[in-house]
Amino acid sequence: MTETVLRGRLLTFHRAPADGNDESAYTYHEDGALLIRDGMIAKRGTFAEITRAAPDAPVTDHRPKLMMAGFIDTHIHFPQVQVIASWGAQLLDWLNTYTFPEETRFADRGHADRMAAAFFDQLIAHGTTTAVAFCSVHRASVDAFFAEAARRDMAMLGGKVLMDRNAPEALLDTPQSGYDDTTALIGEWHARGRSRYVISPRFAITSTPEQMQMAQVLARENPDCHIQTHLSENHDEIAYTASLYPQARDYLDVYESHGLLRANTLLGHAIHLKPREVDALAATGAHPVFCPTSNLFLGSGLFDRARLERRGIRSGIASDVGAGTSYSMLQTLSEGYKVLQLQGQALHPLQAFDWATRGNAAVLGMEDRIGTLDEGTHADVVVLDSNATEAMALRMDRCQSLAEELFVLQIMGDDRAIDEVYVNGRACKHRDREACAGRRIAVA
Ligand code: GUN
Ligand code: ZN
Repeated sequence: MTETVLRGRLLTFHRAPADGNDESAYTYHEDGALLIRDGMIAKRGTFAEITRAAPDAPVTDHRPKLMMAGFIDTHIHFPQVQVIASWGAQLLDWLNTYTFPEETRFADRGHADRMAAAFFDQLIAHGTTTAVAFCSVHRASVDAFFAEAARRDMAMLGGKVLMDRNAPEALLDTPQSGYDDTTALIGEWHARGRSRYVISPRFAITSTPEQMQMAQVLARENPDCHIQTHLSENHDEIAYTASLYPQARDYLDVYESHGLLRANTLLGHAIHLKPREVDALAATGAHPVFCPTSNLFLGSGLFDRARLERRGIRSGIASDVGAGTSYSMLQTLSEGYKVLQLQGQALHPLQAFDWATRGNAAVLGMEDRIGTLDEGTHADVVVLDSNATEAMALRMDRCQSLAEELFVLQIMGDDRAIDEVYVNGRACKHRDREACAGRRIAVA
């Protein structure tokens, strides 16, 4: 048994704050501590309480920095690490011009392994300790992804995309091979350590009805696996989908009529929704995922969070790298704030930080394991530095409340504001970078 204590200012959420005055929604200790035992949070409290409980455990003192649960990114594309910041296109052109050609490279296990090391380095550098990822169509990309997650002991979710049309030949599976590969990968990786497999029909445009039927079989056979796809991101995409699925009542119905909507379904974007689609989301418990940097970058549109909230629909928030422009959940919250501002929906920083931690864990149905600093959960912890840059320090000089400080982190923060990251109790922001240096790609 190994025991350690992390000391610092401490913030964790119990539920979504109703507003900026909702103090019972969270716990904050000015001098707080976590007792970590074998990678799990054994006890949380003030430093005085924790030292009474474990007087001999070694202490790492992070004061005056702020400890919080590690960030959770509920939608990201692993094979797009070298697609991020590709110029000038909206969704369908962006996919055809940049993204699909890049994803063909992930048939090669060596390439996938090198990219996995780089991808996980980026997640950790930006304070993300759990992510839900699309891999490429190739099994090698999934093996590389989960092998790297296991090496780092991270709670990661992911799956191979199912796609059998409207993409280059080298990216196509078939309904049968997609089923067979997914079934084999679930057997290999699902619920192994902290890994969870996600059934991943990419989107309606790249799957035939026959493949959607196979996805339905996979979903039925594996109720414990999450499902992820894309929904109503872009007007041309919606029109093309309607032409490919003329029977469908609307875009969402392509997934609904194939039994793919349930409480552990994640639908990236969900911007341009018809009233019936909102009804169906509310009825099935499926979760839209807001990807603000991506939606701005591709000119896709404005996610209407309030409309969904009014119907009791809980959304995730995510980076969507490589259409997203930053791995940072702080930057994601910053752009999210601006997208919502354009619609008169100001996002309070307490709500924002709850969303990127406990809220996203709840959307995944994993709040009992990740997303908070509660006892009995994994010690996935981020240590935030609100004075990370001179500009932040200047602003911090005039901050008088926790909410103000959080807003500085949300609007001005990025990887520089991530002082340390713990995964299962192990400090890894600085250590893993060194350990992985040998495996990282040489940049010509
Ligand atoms: N829709 C289908 N595939 C993708 C993708 O890779 N990125 C985004 N943003 N939308 C998609
Ligand atoms: Zn996506």
